[in-house]
Amino acid sequence: MSIDPILTASPAEGQPGANTRKVFIKTYGCQMNVYDSVRMGDALASEGYVPTEQMEEADLIVLNTCHIREKAADKVYSALGRLREMKKARNAQGQELMIGVAGCVAQAEGEEILRREPSVDVVIGPQTYHRLPAALRRARLGDRIVDTDYAVEDKFEHLPAVESTRVRSRGVTSFLTVQEGCDKFCTFCVVPYTRGAEVSRPFRQIVVEAQRLVDAGVREITLLGQNVNAWRSEGPDGREWGLGDLLYKLAEIPGLARLRYTTSHPRDMDDRLIEAHRDLRELMPYLHLPVQSGSDRILKAMNRRHTAEEYLRLISRIRAVKPDMAMSGDFIVGFPGETEQDFADTLRIVEAVGYAQAFSFKYSTRPGTPGADLPGHVAEDVKAERLERLQSLLLKQQAEFAKSCVGKVIDLLLEKPGRMPGQLIGRSPWLQSVNVDAKPSQIGDIIPVRIIGTGPNSLFAEPVGASSAS
Ligand code: SAH
Ligand code: SF4
Ligand code: F3S
Repeated sequence: MSIDPILTASPAEGQPGANTRKVFIKTYGCQMNVYDSVRMGDALASEGYVPTEQMEEADLIVLNTCHIREKAADKVYSALGRLREMKKARNAQGQELMIGVAGCVAQAEGEEILRREPSVDVVIGPQTYHRLPAALRRARLGDRIVDTDYAVEDKFEHLPAVESTRVRSRGVTSFLTVQEGCDKFCTFCVVPYTRGAEVSRPFRQIVVEAQRLVDAGVREITLLGQNVNAWRSEGPDGREWGLGDLLYKLAEIPGLARLRYTTSHPRDMDDRLIEAHRDLRELMPYLHLPVQSGSDRILKAMNRRHTAEEYLRLISRIRAVKPDMAMSGDFIVGFPGETEQDFADTLRIVEAVGYAQAFSFKYSTRPGTPGADLPGHVAEDVKAERLERLQSLLLKQQAEFAKSCVGKVIDLLLEKPGRMPGQLIGRSPWLQSVNVDAKPSQIGDIIPVRIIGTGPNSLFAEPVGASSAS
Protein backbone atom coordinates (compact mmCIF):
# COMPACT_ATOMS: atom_id res chain seq x y z
CA MET A 1 0.00 0.00 0.00
CA SER A 2 1.36 3.38 -0.82
CA ILE A 3 2.23 5.80 1.89
CA ASP A 4 1.02 9.33 1.81
CA PRO A 5 3.77 11.46 3.32
CA ILE A 6 1.25 14.21 3.98
CA LEU A 7 -0.55 14.10 7.27
CA THR A 8 -4.26 14.28 6.82
CA ALA A 9 -6.71 15.66 9.32
CA SER A 10 -10.13 14.06 9.46
CA PRO A 11 -12.64 15.96 7.36
CA ALA A 12 -15.03 18.22 9.18
CA GLU A 13 -18.53 16.86 9.49
CA GLY A 14 -21.57 18.07 11.33
CA GLN A 15 -21.89 21.22 13.37
CA PRO A 16 -20.51 21.32 16.88
CA GLY A 17 -23.14 22.06 19.50
CA ALA A 18 -22.60 23.73 22.87
CA ASN A 19 -22.17 20.49 24.86
CA THR A 20 -20.35 18.40 22.32
CA ARG A 21 -16.76 17.34 22.68
CA LYS A 22 -14.47 17.82 19.74
CA VAL A 23 -11.98 15.32 18.38
CA PHE A 24 -9.02 15.93 16.13
CA ILE A 25 -7.62 12.83 14.46
CA LYS A 26 -4.24 13.09 12.82
CA THR A 27 -3.51 10.36 10.33
CA TYR A 28 -0.06 9.12 9.42
CA GLY A 29 0.86 6.31 7.06
CA CYS A 30 -1.13 4.41 4.49
CA GLN A 31 -4.67 4.52 3.11
CA MET A 32 -5.72 1.86 5.60
CA ASN A 33 -5.05 4.35 8.37
CA VAL A 34 -7.05 7.00 6.49
CA TYR A 35 -9.98 4.59 6.39
CA ASP A 36 -9.48 3.63 10.04
CA SER A 37 -9.46 7.29 11.11
CA VAL A 38 -12.83 7.78 9.47
CA ARG A 39 -14.21 4.71 11.23
CA MET A 40 -12.75 5.84 14.56
CA GLY A 41 -14.51 9.15 14.02
CA ASP A 42 -17.75 7.18 13.47
CA ALA A 43 -17.22 5.22 16.69
CA LEU A 44 -16.58 8.46 18.60
CA ALA A 45 -19.62 10.16 17.08
CA SER A 46 -21.79 7.71 18.97
CA GLU A 47 -20.18 9.14 22.15
CA GLY A 48 -21.11 12.67 21.12
CA TYR A 49 -17.75 13.69 19.67
CA VAL A 50 -17.74 15.87 16.56
CA PRO A 51 -14.65 16.16 14.40
CA THR A 52 -12.68 19.39 14.21
CA GLU A 53 -9.89 20.40 11.88
CA GLN A 54 -8.42 22.76 14.50
CA MET A 55 -6.20 20.84 16.86
CA GLU A 56 -6.26 23.78 19.30
CA GLU A 57 -10.01 23.49 19.94
CA ALA A 58 -10.06 19.70 20.38
CA ASP A 59 -10.96 18.00 23.67
CA LEU A 60 -9.51 14.75 22.35
CA ILE A 61 -6.53 14.37 20.04
CA VAL A 62 -5.89 10.97 18.47
CA LEU A 63 -2.71 10.23 16.55
CA ASN A 64 -3.33 7.37 14.14
CA THR A 65 0.23 6.26 13.67
CA CYS A 66 2.53 4.44 11.25
CA HIS A 67 5.46 2.22 12.16
CA ILE A 68 6.72 1.35 8.70
CA ARG A 69 10.01 3.23 8.88
CA GLU A 70 12.04 4.56 11.79
CA LYS A 71 11.27 8.14 10.83
CA ALA A 72 7.53 7.48 10.79
CA ALA A 73 7.67 6.22 14.40
CA ASP A 74 9.97 9.08 15.50
CA LYS A 75 7.47 11.60 14.17
CA VAL A 76 4.88 10.26 16.59
CA TYR A 77 7.07 10.82 19.63
CA SER A 78 7.97 14.35 18.59
CA ALA A 79 4.29 15.13 18.01
CA LEU A 80 3.51 13.69 21.47
CA GLY A 81 6.17 15.95 23.00
CA ARG A 82 4.34 18.99 21.58
CA LEU A 83 0.99 17.66 22.77
CA ARG A 84 2.38 17.26 26.30
CA GLU A 85 2.98 21.02 26.46
CA MET A 86 -0.45 21.72 25.05
CA LYS A 87 -2.08 19.46 27.63
CA LYS A 88 -0.17 21.14 30.47
CA ALA A 89 -1.33 24.58 29.36
CA ARG A 90 -4.90 23.33 28.99
CA ASN A 91 -4.93 21.64 32.41
CA ALA A 92 -3.52 24.80 34.01
CA GLN A 93 -6.67 26.54 32.82
CA GLY A 94 -8.80 23.79 34.35
CA GLN A 95 -9.68 22.32 30.93
CA GLU A 96 -9.53 18.74 29.74
CA LEU A 97 -7.40 17.48 26.88
CA MET A 98 -7.27 13.74 26.31
CA ILE A 99 -4.62 12.17 24.13
CA GLY A 100 -4.91 8.86 22.33
CA VAL A 101 -2.40 6.94 20.25
CA ALA A 102 -3.85 4.53 17.71
CA GLY A 103 -2.50 2.62 14.71
CA CYS A 104 0.66 0.65 14.10
CA VAL A 105 3.00 2.36 16.61
CA ALA A 106 0.35 1.71 19.25
CA GLN A 107 0.26 -1.96 18.31
CA ALA A 108 4.04 -2.30 18.15
CA GLU A 109 4.96 -0.35 21.28
CA GLY A 110 1.92 -0.59 23.57
CA GLU A 111 2.88 0.09 27.20
CA GLU A 112 6.19 1.63 26.11
CA ILE A 113 4.24 4.66 24.84
CA LEU A 114 2.76 5.26 28.29
CA ARG A 115 6.22 4.97 29.82
CA ARG A 116 7.79 7.40 27.38
CA GLU A 117 4.93 9.88 27.26
CA PRO A 118 3.09 10.60 30.52
CA SER A 119 0.49 12.75 28.76
CA VAL A 120 -0.99 9.83 26.80
CA ASP A 121 -4.33 8.58 28.18
CA VAL A 122 -5.18 5.78 25.76
CA VAL A 123 -3.21 3.46 23.47
CA ILE A 124 -5.40 1.52 21.07
CA GLY A 125 -4.42 -0.89 18.28
CA PRO A 126 -5.60 -1.06 14.66
CA GLN A 127 -7.73 -4.12 15.45
CA THR A 128 -9.28 -2.73 18.63
CA TYR A 129 -10.27 0.83 17.81
CA HIS A 130 -13.97 -0.04 18.00
CA ARG A 131 -13.28 -0.15 21.76
CA LEU A 132 -11.90 3.41 21.81
CA PRO A 133 -15.08 4.97 23.29
CA ALA A 134 -15.03 2.46 26.17
CA ALA A 135 -11.31 3.02 26.74
CA LEU A 136 -11.89 6.79 26.90
CA ARG A 137 -14.64 6.36 29.45
CA ARG A 138 -12.29 4.34 31.65
CA ALA A 139 -9.47 6.83 31.11
CA ARG A 140 -11.71 9.65 32.20
CA LEU A 141 -12.02 7.91 35.57
CA GLY A 142 -8.26 8.23 35.95
CA ASP A 143 -6.82 5.04 34.42
CA ARG A 144 -4.30 5.01 31.62
CA ILE A 145 -5.38 2.39 29.09
CA VAL A 146 -3.52 0.14 26.68
CA ASP A 147 -5.92 -1.90 24.57
CA THR A 148 -4.09 -3.71 21.78
CA ASP A 149 -4.97 -7.37 22.40
CA TYR A 150 -7.29 -8.84 19.87
CA ALA A 151 -8.54 -12.31 19.11
CA VAL A 152 -10.71 -13.52 16.27
CA GLU A 153 -13.28 -10.86 17.00
CA ASP A 154 -14.29 -8.76 14.01
CA LYS A 155 -14.01 -5.04 14.67
CA PHE A 156 -16.19 -4.23 11.67
CA GLU A 157 -19.11 -6.02 13.32
CA HIS A 158 -18.75 -3.69 16.29
CA LEU A 159 -18.46 -0.38 14.50
CA PRO A 160 -21.66 1.61 14.24
CA ALA A 161 -23.44 1.79 10.88
CA VAL A 162 -22.88 5.24 9.48
CA GLU A 163 -25.71 7.62 8.69
CA SER A 164 -25.81 8.50 5.03
CA THR A 165 -25.57 12.24 5.81
CA ARG A 166 -22.18 11.66 7.40
CA VAL A 167 -21.00 9.58 4.45
CA ARG A 168 -22.37 12.13 1.99
CA SER A 169 -20.28 14.89 3.52
CA ARG A 170 -17.13 12.92 2.77
CA GLY A 171 -17.29 13.20 -0.99
CA VAL A 172 -17.74 11.08 -4.07
CA THR A 173 -14.76 8.78 -3.66
CA SER A 174 -14.28 6.40 -0.78
CA PHE A 175 -12.03 3.72 0.60
CA LEU A 176 -13.49 0.40 1.70
CA THR A 177 -11.31 -2.04 3.63
CA VAL A 178 -11.85 -5.61 2.45
CA GLN A 179 -8.77 -7.31 3.84
CA GLU A 180 -6.31 -6.65 6.61
CA GLY A 181 -3.01 -8.03 7.78
CA CYS A 182 -0.34 -9.90 5.94
CA ASP A 183 1.14 -13.39 5.92
CA LYS A 184 3.90 -12.63 3.44
CA PHE A 185 6.62 -11.66 5.91
CA CYS A 186 8.84 -9.66 3.60
CA THR A 187 12.02 -9.47 5.65
CA PHE A 188 12.06 -5.64 5.82
CA CYS A 189 8.45 -5.13 6.88
CA VAL A 190 6.64 -4.59 10.20
CA VAL A 191 3.11 -4.95 8.82
CA PRO A 192 2.66 -8.67 9.62
CA TYR A 193 3.52 -7.78 13.23
CA THR A 194 1.43 -4.61 13.56
CA ARG A 195 -1.62 -5.65 11.54
CA GLY A 196 -1.48 -9.35 12.26
CA ALA A 197 -2.35 -12.31 10.05
CA GLU A 198 -4.28 -11.96 6.82
CA VAL A 199 -8.01 -11.63 7.45
CA SER A 200 -10.64 -11.08 4.76
CA ARG A 201 -13.93 -9.34 5.44
CA PRO A 202 -16.89 -11.50 4.48
CA PHE A 203 -18.40 -10.94 1.03
CA ARG A 204 -21.81 -9.88 2.33
CA GLN A 205 -20.40 -7.22 4.67
CA ILE A 206 -18.47 -5.66 1.81
CA VAL A 207 -21.45 -5.56 -0.52
CA VAL A 208 -23.60 -3.94 2.18
CA GLU A 209 -20.97 -1.28 2.88
CA ALA A 210 -20.43 -0.60 -0.83
CA GLN A 211 -24.18 -0.22 -1.37
CA ARG A 212 -24.40 2.15 1.59
CA LEU A 213 -21.61 4.28 0.16
CA VAL A 214 -23.26 4.40 -3.26
CA ASP A 215 -26.63 5.30 -1.71
CA ALA A 216 -24.84 8.26 -0.10
CA GLY A 217 -23.52 9.48 -3.46
CA VAL A 218 -20.12 7.76 -3.71
CA ARG A 219 -19.16 7.14 -7.35
CA GLU A 220 -15.72 5.60 -6.93
CA ILE A 221 -14.67 2.98 -4.37
CA THR A 222 -11.10 1.88 -3.72
CA LEU A 223 -10.95 -1.52 -2.05
CA LEU A 224 -8.19 -1.58 0.52
CA GLY A 225 -6.02 -4.31 1.94
CA GLN A 226 -2.39 -4.69 2.95
CA ASN A 227 -2.56 -7.55 0.49
CA VAL A 228 -5.83 -6.80 -1.18
CA ASN A 229 -5.56 -9.39 -3.92
CA ALA A 230 -5.22 -12.14 -1.29
CA TRP A 231 -8.88 -11.45 -0.37
CA ARG A 232 -10.89 -14.67 -0.12
CA SER A 233 -14.42 -15.28 1.06
CA GLU A 234 -17.30 -17.65 0.50
CA GLY A 235 -19.35 -16.18 -2.35
CA PRO A 236 -23.14 -16.29 -2.69
CA ASP A 237 -22.80 -19.50 -4.73
CA GLY A 238 -20.99 -21.25 -1.86
CA ARG A 239 -17.70 -21.27 -3.80
CA GLU A 240 -14.57 -19.57 -2.46
CA TRP A 241 -14.37 -16.19 -4.16
CA GLY A 242 -11.27 -14.13 -4.88
CA LEU A 243 -10.87 -10.42 -5.50
CA GLY A 244 -11.64 -10.79 -9.22
CA ASP A 245 -15.04 -12.37 -8.41
CA LEU A 246 -15.75 -9.63 -5.87
CA LEU A 247 -15.02 -6.91 -8.42
CA TYR A 248 -17.43 -8.44 -10.96
CA LYS A 249 -20.11 -8.42 -8.28
CA LEU A 250 -19.48 -4.85 -7.09
CA ALA A 251 -19.45 -3.60 -10.69
CA GLU A 252 -23.15 -4.59 -10.84
CA ILE A 253 -24.14 -1.98 -8.22
CA PRO A 254 -26.08 0.70 -10.11
CA GLY A 255 -24.47 4.13 -9.72
CA LEU A 256 -21.06 2.78 -8.77
CA ALA A 257 -19.05 4.11 -11.69
CA ARG A 258 -15.50 3.30 -10.72
CA LEU A 259 -13.59 0.63 -8.84
CA ARG A 260 -9.97 0.45 -7.78
CA TYR A 261 -8.03 -1.72 -5.36
CA THR A 262 -4.75 -1.40 -3.52
CA THR A 263 -2.20 -2.79 -2.57
CA SER A 264 -1.53 -5.95 -4.50
CA HIS A 265 1.23 -8.47 -4.19
CA PRO A 266 2.56 -9.84 -7.51
CA ARG A 267 2.16 -13.41 -6.19
CA ASP A 268 -1.60 -13.00 -5.78
CA MET A 269 -2.48 -11.54 -9.21
CA ASP A 270 -4.57 -14.44 -10.46
CA ASP A 271 -6.21 -15.02 -13.85
CA ARG A 272 -9.68 -14.02 -12.67
CA LEU A 273 -8.36 -10.64 -11.49
CA ILE A 274 -6.63 -10.04 -14.80
CA GLU A 275 -9.85 -11.02 -16.61
CA ALA A 276 -11.71 -8.45 -14.51
CA HIS A 277 -9.39 -5.78 -15.94
CA ARG A 278 -10.26 -7.02 -19.42
CA ASP A 279 -14.03 -7.12 -18.87
CA LEU A 280 -15.04 -4.43 -16.39
CA ARG A 281 -15.43 -0.90 -17.66
CA GLU A 282 -15.76 0.17 -14.03
CA LEU A 283 -12.33 -1.16 -13.07
CA MET A 284 -9.87 1.68 -13.58
CA PRO A 285 -6.70 1.08 -15.64
CA TYR A 286 -4.28 1.80 -12.83
CA LEU A 287 -2.46 -0.81 -10.79
CA HIS A 288 -0.21 -0.34 -7.79
CA LEU A 289 2.00 -3.42 -7.87
CA PRO A 290 5.12 -3.01 -5.73
CA VAL A 291 8.25 -4.85 -6.82
CA GLN A 292 10.71 -3.33 -4.27
CA SER A 293 13.84 -4.36 -6.19
CA GLY A 294 14.85 -5.54 -9.65
CA SER A 295 17.57 -7.88 -8.40
CA ASP A 296 16.67 -11.55 -7.97
CA ARG A 297 19.26 -11.89 -5.23
CA ILE A 298 17.71 -9.05 -3.24
CA LEU A 299 14.15 -10.16 -3.99
CA LYS A 300 15.07 -13.52 -2.51
CA ALA A 301 16.64 -11.93 0.58
CA MET A 302 13.50 -9.80 0.94
CA ASN A 303 11.39 -12.98 0.78
CA ARG A 304 9.28 -11.51 -2.03
CA ARG A 305 8.95 -15.00 -3.53
CA HIS A 306 9.13 -13.99 -7.19
CA THR A 307 11.86 -13.03 -9.64
CA ALA A 308 12.24 -9.85 -11.69
CA GLU A 309 11.41 -11.84 -14.83
CA GLU A 310 8.19 -13.22 -13.31
CA TYR A 311 7.13 -9.66 -12.39
CA LEU A 312 7.78 -8.43 -15.93
CA ARG A 313 5.89 -11.38 -17.42
CA LEU A 314 2.95 -10.64 -15.16
CA ILE A 315 2.84 -7.03 -16.33
CA SER A 316 2.97 -8.18 -19.96
CA ARG A 317 -0.04 -10.42 -19.32
CA ILE A 318 -1.93 -7.54 -17.72
CA ARG A 319 -1.06 -5.13 -20.51
CA ALA A 320 -2.04 -7.73 -23.10
CA VAL A 321 -5.65 -7.48 -21.88
CA LYS A 322 -5.49 -3.81 -20.86
CA PRO A 323 -3.04 -1.91 -23.03
CA ASP A 324 -3.63 1.46 -21.33
CA MET A 325 -2.87 0.08 -17.86
CA ALA A 326 -0.80 2.60 -15.87
CA MET A 327 1.59 1.01 -13.43
CA SER A 328 2.56 2.22 -10.00
CA GLY A 329 5.06 0.67 -7.62
CA ASP A 330 7.06 0.81 -4.40
CA PHE A 331 10.84 0.50 -4.23
CA ILE A 332 13.36 0.08 -1.46
CA VAL A 333 16.99 1.02 -2.06
CA GLY A 334 19.86 -0.10 0.13
CA PHE A 335 18.39 -3.31 1.48
CA PRO A 336 21.19 -5.19 3.35
CA GLY A 337 23.60 -6.72 0.86
CA GLU A 338 22.48 -4.54 -2.08
CA THR A 339 25.42 -3.95 -4.41
CA GLU A 340 25.77 -1.41 -7.20
CA GLN A 341 24.95 -4.27 -9.59
CA ASP A 342 21.73 -5.10 -7.70
CA PHE A 343 20.77 -1.43 -7.79
CA ALA A 344 21.47 -1.33 -11.55
CA ASP A 345 18.97 -4.21 -11.87
CA THR A 346 16.38 -2.06 -10.09
CA LEU A 347 16.96 0.80 -12.54
CA ARG A 348 16.64 -1.73 -15.35
CA ILE A 349 13.27 -3.05 -14.19
CA VAL A 350 12.00 0.53 -13.87
CA GLU A 351 13.11 1.20 -17.46
CA ALA A 352 11.39 -1.98 -18.61
CA VAL A 353 8.05 -1.26 -16.91
CA GLY A 354 7.64 2.51 -17.33
CA TYR A 355 5.85 3.69 -14.19
CA ALA A 356 3.14 6.34 -14.19
CA GLN A 357 3.60 6.79 -10.44
CA ALA A 358 5.91 5.35 -7.80
CA PHE A 359 6.99 5.53 -4.18
CA SER A 360 10.60 4.89 -3.28
CA PHE A 361 12.32 4.68 0.07
CA LYS A 362 15.69 4.15 1.66
CA TYR A 363 15.74 0.86 3.57
CA SER A 364 14.98 1.54 7.21
CA THR A 365 16.01 -1.07 9.76
CA ARG A 366 13.03 -2.29 11.75
CA PRO A 367 14.02 -4.09 14.94
CA GLY A 368 12.35 -7.47 15.17
CA THR A 369 12.19 -8.06 11.42
CA PRO A 370 14.58 -10.62 9.85
CA GLY A 371 16.17 -7.91 7.66
CA ALA A 372 17.54 -6.16 10.74
CA ASP A 373 19.85 -9.12 11.42
CA LEU A 374 21.15 -9.55 7.87
CA PRO A 375 24.79 -8.77 7.16
CA GLY A 376 25.88 -6.03 4.74
CA HIS A 377 23.88 -3.02 5.90
CA VAL A 378 24.35 -0.27 3.35
CA ALA A 379 25.80 3.11 4.39
CA GLU A 380 23.32 6.01 4.63
CA ASP A 381 25.13 8.13 2.04
CA VAL A 382 25.09 5.25 -0.46
CA LYS A 383 21.37 4.76 0.14
CA ALA A 384 20.75 8.49 -0.31
CA GLU A 385 22.68 8.60 -3.55
CA ARG A 386 20.88 5.54 -4.96
CA LEU A 387 17.52 6.94 -3.94
CA GLU A 388 18.28 10.16 -5.76
CA ARG A 389 19.18 8.32 -8.97
CA LEU A 390 16.09 6.12 -8.74
CA GLN A 391 13.78 9.02 -8.02
CA SER A 392 15.07 11.09 -10.90
CA LEU A 393 14.31 8.19 -13.26
CA LEU A 394 10.86 7.66 -11.73
CA LEU A 395 10.05 11.38 -11.88
CA LYS A 396 11.10 11.48 -15.52
CA GLN A 397 8.75 8.57 -16.27
CA GLN A 398 5.95 10.24 -14.32
CA ALA A 399 6.38 13.47 -16.31
CA GLU A 400 6.48 11.52 -19.58
CA PHE A 401 3.28 9.74 -18.65
CA ALA A 402 1.56 13.03 -17.80
CA LYS A 403 2.74 14.54 -21.09
CA SER A 404 1.45 11.54 -23.04
CA CYS A 405 -2.03 12.42 -21.78
CA VAL A 406 -2.04 15.88 -23.36
CA GLY A 407 -4.47 16.06 -26.25
CA LYS A 408 -6.45 13.01 -25.09
CA VAL A 409 -10.16 13.12 -24.30
CA ILE A 410 -10.77 11.28 -21.05
CA ASP A 411 -13.57 10.68 -18.57
CA LEU A 412 -13.15 12.82 -15.51
CA LEU A 413 -14.87 12.21 -12.17
CA LEU A 414 -15.51 15.67 -10.71
CA GLU A 415 -14.50 15.45 -7.09
CA LYS A 416 -14.13 18.75 -5.26
CA PRO A 417 -13.75 22.52 -5.61
CA GLY A 418 -10.53 23.65 -7.26
CA ARG A 419 -8.15 26.37 -6.16
CA MET A 420 -9.63 28.94 -8.56
CA PRO A 421 -13.26 29.99 -8.41
CA GLY A 422 -15.22 28.33 -11.21
CA GLN A 423 -12.88 25.33 -11.22
CA LEU A 424 -13.25 21.80 -9.97
CA ILE A 425 -10.66 19.12 -9.40
CA GLY A 426 -11.42 15.77 -10.93
CA ARG A 427 -9.77 12.38 -11.00
CA SER A 428 -8.62 10.76 -14.22
CA PRO A 429 -8.89 7.01 -14.78
CA TRP A 430 -5.14 6.92 -14.01
CA LEU A 431 -5.58 8.63 -10.65
CA GLN A 432 -4.24 12.01 -11.73
CA SER A 433 -5.72 15.23 -10.35
CA VAL A 434 -7.16 17.29 -13.19
CA ASN A 435 -8.26 20.95 -13.01
CA VAL A 436 -11.20 21.93 -15.17
CA ASP A 437 -13.79 24.70 -15.40
CA ALA A 438 -17.03 23.31 -13.96
CA LYS A 439 -19.83 24.16 -11.55
CA PRO A 440 -19.99 22.89 -7.94
CA SER A 441 -23.33 21.26 -8.78
CA GLN A 442 -21.42 18.94 -11.13
CA ILE A 443 -19.45 17.28 -8.32
CA GLY A 444 -20.02 13.54 -8.70
CA ASP A 445 -20.58 13.75 -12.46
CA ILE A 446 -18.28 12.05 -14.90
CA ILE A 447 -17.65 14.29 -17.88
CA PRO A 448 -15.52 14.03 -21.00
CA VAL A 449 -12.63 16.53 -20.96
CA ARG A 450 -9.62 17.18 -23.15
CA ILE A 451 -6.26 17.35 -21.38
CA ILE A 452 -4.57 20.58 -22.44
CA GLY A 453 -1.55 20.86 -20.16
CA THR A 454 0.47 19.51 -17.27
CA GLY A 455 1.48 21.09 -13.96
CA PRO A 456 3.86 19.81 -11.28
CA ASN A 457 1.28 17.59 -9.57
CA SER A 458 -1.80 17.85 -11.73
CA LEU A 459 -3.17 18.21 -15.23
CA PHE A 460 -5.29 20.91 -16.85
CA ALA A 461 -8.30 20.15 -19.00
CA GLU A 462 -11.19 21.74 -20.88
CA PRO A 463 -14.69 20.30 -21.02
CA VAL A 464 -15.69 18.60 -24.27
CA GLY A 465 -19.34 18.91 -25.36
CA ALA A 466 -22.20 18.70 -22.86
CA SER A 467 -21.66 17.18 -19.44
CA SER A 468 -23.33 13.95 -18.46
CA ALA A 469 -23.94 12.26 -15.15
CA SER A 470 -23.01 8.83 -16.49
N1 SAH B 1 1.39 -4.57 1.52
C1 SAH B 1 2.00 -3.36 1.16
C2 SAH B 1 2.97 -2.87 2.17
C3 SAH B 1 2.74 -1.59 2.77
S1 SAH B 1 4.21 -0.88 3.23
C4 SAH B 1 2.80 -3.67 -0.06
O1 SAH B 1 3.23 -4.82 -0.21
O2 SAH B 1 2.96 -2.74 -0.82
C5 SAH B 1 4.42 0.19 1.84
C6 SAH B 1 5.80 0.23 1.32
O3 SAH B 1 6.70 0.70 2.30
C7 SAH B 1 6.36 -1.11 0.91
O4 SAH B 1 5.90 -1.51 -0.33
C8 SAH B 1 7.82 -0.81 0.92
O5 SAH B 1 8.26 -0.28 -0.31
C9 SAH B 1 7.97 0.27 1.99
N2 SAH B 1 8.60 -0.27 3.19
C10 SAH B 1 8.13 -1.22 4.03
N3 SAH B 1 9.03 -1.49 5.00
C11 SAH B 1 10.10 -0.70 4.77
C12 SAH B 1 11.35 -0.53 5.42
N4 SAH B 1 11.68 -1.25 6.48
N5 SAH B 1 12.21 0.39 4.91
C13 SAH B 1 11.88 1.10 3.82
N6 SAH B 1 10.71 0.98 3.17
C14 SAH B 1 9.82 0.08 3.63
FE1 SF4 C 1 4.85 -5.90 4.19
FE2 SF4 C 1 5.47 -7.63 2.30
FE3 SF4 C 1 3.18 -7.87 3.60
FE4 SF4 C 1 3.52 -5.84 1.89
S1 SF4 C 1 3.50 -8.02 1.36
S2 SF4 C 1 2.65 -5.75 3.97
S3 SF4 C 1 5.65 -5.39 2.14
S4 SF4 C 1 5.18 -8.11 4.49
FE1 F3S D 1 2.17 2.25 8.37
FE2 F3S D 1 0.70 0.45 9.56
FE3 F3S D 1 0.01 1.34 7.17
S1 F3S D 1 2.88 0.55 9.61
S2 F3S D 1 1.96 1.74 6.28
S3 F3S D 1 0.08 2.52 9.01
S4 F3S D 1 -0.21 -0.73 7.91
